[in-house]
Amino acid sequence: MLTACRQVSPTTLIAIGITSIFLSATIGQGQTAADPSSSVDQAGNIRVPDVNYRKEWIALGTWAVAADEGGLGSNGMHVVYTQEETITAYLETGKFPDGAVLVKELLGTETAEMTTGTISRAGEVEGWFVMVKDSTGKFEDTNGLWGEGWGWAYFGADNSAETTTTDYESECLGCHVPAQDNDWIYTEGYPVLR
Ligand code: HEC
Repeated sequence: MLTACRQVSPTTLIAIGITSIFLSATIGQGQTAADPSSSVDQAGNIRVPDVNYRKEWIALGTWAVAADEGGLGSNGMHVVYTQEETITAYLETGKFPDGAVLVKELLGTETAEMTTGTISRAGEVEGWFVMVKDSTGKFEDTNGLWGEGWGWAYFGADNSAETTTTDYESECLGCHVPAQDNDWIYTEGYPVLR
């Protein structure tokens, strides 16, 4: 046992020491930080995340838009994604952490008879809604898209880097009032947060 100890070099011991200090500091915060840099720049400009969020992030849930009256299947689908760190933090604290990005894809649909019945499947992207959590309010006086603890923006399918939104209060907020008690997010649609 003693021999085994002597074989561990001082460098290794220092490395172990530093690692444990780092680990306890990280765990001590009780919250995993989420990185918003894929979706917002230093000036507060929002974009659709420039990462392959379908593959690298986690799908929170899908909303199926019903077909027009008398029609079958679904007229559209809204698929919402976020970073894994956001989910980890939410499950720990019940809150969306700063840096959380929620991206809602609007998808067209194709409906067909399949062996399981009348089925609608996801088609092409028709646009995106993006929200970025920032409880510090540091961008509130920038571009009209920041307030109530979030950045808010919509993007048409043809331009994921430039929003067509100019005023979150008139273009977004009113419709999210029913979700105000859940930090403006319709959390009931996201089973992974339960
Ligand atoms: C017509 C009402 C309406 C408007 C306007 C609206 N939203 Fe939403 N939003 C909703 C509803 C309802 C949901 C959840 C169900 C769904 O997707 O249809 C939702 C969901 C979202 C989600 C997924 C996270 C969540 O809250 O569940 C994001 C992101 C989002 N909206 C962002 C925005 C942004 C940004 C704007 C403004 C540019 C905006 N919304 C404007 C009604 C609206």
